[in-house]
Amino acid sequence: MTVKDLVKPPVLLSEEALQRRVRELGQEITAHYQDHDGQLVVVAILKGSFLFAADLIRAVDLDLAVEFLGLRSYGAGTESSGVVQITYDLTTPVTDRDVLIVEDIVDTGLSMRYLLENLATRHPRSVKLCSLLHKPARTRAAVPIDFLGFTIEDRFVVGYGLDYAERYRNLPYLGVLGE
Ligand code: IMP
Ligand code: MG
Repeated sequence: MTVKDLVKPPVLLSEEALQRRVRELGQEITAHYQDHDGQLVVVAILKGSFLFAADLIRAVDLDLAVEFLGLRSYGAGTESSGVVQITYDLTTPVTDRDVLIVEDIVDTGLSMRYLLENLATRHPRSVKLCSLLHKPARTRAAVPIDFLGFTIEDRFVVGYGLDYAERYRNLPYLGVLGE
């Protein structure tokens, strides 16, 4: 298969729309943590949030550190099972620190419920969640999203870091598969 065989998925959110919203989220986050003392720990969830996190932190004007955490959710095809595994963990303790999780999409919510429960055992001072996307139609575990980019319909989306079988992460826009 060459790149010529890959059909470009139709646009759901353009590069411009994504960039504009990411800048707004950066401003919301900056305002929220403005008067907190100490350094914010931004935890980017791998792999899907790597582009979003890279753009977002450049729009955040705060003292912050970046950490990565890999999550794998076992399931058939595109369906999450709720059995979640940490494939790459933080390299630093977060006890008594303000943590901001940066996720690509909250779909069933099962991955974020698992992560929030796991992080709580490490006793951070606070934990907030920033997600680029939310698919409320598929909720199985309701998790509070403190900073949200876009609410979307129940469609499988790719691009801007999100994949289907590891493909399409490099699309600069958010596209829809299977339409
Ligand atoms: P959960 O169902 O909320 O646990 O989501 C688990 C993970 O599935 C997300 O972090 C994404 O990496 C992935 N995912 C869910 N929906 C989509 C989608 O529409 N496109 C690409 N990845 C998705
Ligand atoms: Mg993910």
